Amino acid sequence: MLAGKKVLLGITGSISAYKSLQIVRDLTQAGAQVQVVLTKAAERFVPFLTLQIFSGRPVLRDLSEANQEMAHVTLAGESDLVLIAPITAHFISKMAMGLNDDLLSSLILSTSSPVVIVPAMDIGMWEHPAVQANVDRLRRRGVQIIGPETGLLASGKVGLGRFSDEKKIVTQVISLLSEDHPSLLGEVVLITAGPTEEAIDPVRYISNRSSGKMGYALAEIAQKWGARVILISGPTSIPVPEGLSTISVNTADEMKKAVDQYLPGASIVIMAAAVSDYRPKIVSSKKIKKSGANQSIELEETADILAERPNGKPGQVVIGFAAETEDLIQNARKKLKKKRLDLIVANDVTAEGAGFDVDTNRVQLIPAHGKTISCPKMSKHRISVCILKEVLRIKAEAC
Ligand code: CTP
Repeated sequence: MLAGKKVLLGITGSISAYKSLQIVRDLTQAGAQVQVVLTKAAERFVPFLTLQIFSGRPVLRDLSEANQEMAHVTLAGESDLVLIAPITAHFISKMAMGLNDDLLSSLILSTSSPVVIVPAMDIGMWEHPAVQANVDRLRRRGVQIIGPETGLLASGKVGLGRFSDEKKIVTQVISLLSEDHPSLLGEVVLITAGPTEEAIDPVRYISNRSSGKMGYALAEIAQKWGARVILISGPTSIPVPEGLSTISVNTADEMKKAVDQYLPGASIVIMAAAVSDYRPKIVSSKKIKKSGANQSIELEETADILAERPNGKPGQVVIGFAAETEDLIQNARKKLKKKRLDLIVANDVTAEGAGFDVDTNRVQLIPAHGKTISCPKMSKHRISVCILKEVLRIKAEAC
């Protein structure tokens, strides 16, 4: 299943480090070439020689060993995926800060491959705000996180912090590297989802009808295909797909700031959010009381996040959505041109089985160059597959 794939497995100093032996075994049996890199702290927890025998390769510990084998930059560039299992709170902090004082942390700074981490630590540590802030920082950078699970911990306590099941980790790695589905490995996908809310007063707001389901489905599939996903979400009530974290925003202004920050580093941008086009010109600091007379609210336009986006990197593919109630194709084509898009997903929100708060959609995919594709009523996950396949076609054509 993993023939020809190279996995760099980093092991850090946790009591559960011995479990990585099984991971090495399973990944090599699946055909992967596994290069193990140990931190100094991990050496005390895992038998070095056994790792070497299981992986069939020299296990590396420090920069000088790496340089004997090959430059550490080459090592980082060669791997299809970097897995750090287990990862300690200490190593998470180092990664979050971008520190490199040993071979593994230097490799992390040099790699552009997808990075997956599997935390293992005591519940108190895992729940500490500093650790959570660091984990969140890594998620925002597109690092995928497996676990931790709830269960019996080395300290004797029961709680969140347990190393995930080895089989689950290996299955996830196989899925990420598998050729069964198209691959987005190495791609950084920025997705916006859900509505935005514009305050009228402390208890009222203007918003758009959007559940966020389409954007979340896209994020889930893109992650499954190996992309680093940055999901910027307006307020929604749907659960965040496992292993993904969202950058939560409320207003169009906040969404714009987040998009402007992350868009330059993304290779694929998908704006599925239903952004408010208008906001009240004056926001009342107190609840507006009933006066017995009609009220009107003066509205001002918000920025068009997509149209006013900063420059992306060369080859960036940008996708917009067009939510329409009439003249679907004409309106969508206008937006495709005006917003300088590579693809627009045209969506008649009045059609049966399409639009808001339902699990299905029916859309037309209109590329800037190429044939329009009609997607009949299907699940938002199936629609996501169609959209991402079309993105890959556009990318391939641009090469
Ligand atoms: N969009 C945006 N910023 C806005 C409004 C829309 O980035 N202030 C993005 C949406 O995320 C979507 C695309 O632009 O990808 C089209 O959004 P849509 O609401 O269909 O169109 P509008 O440009 O708002 O035009 P109109 O409401 O007049 O149809």
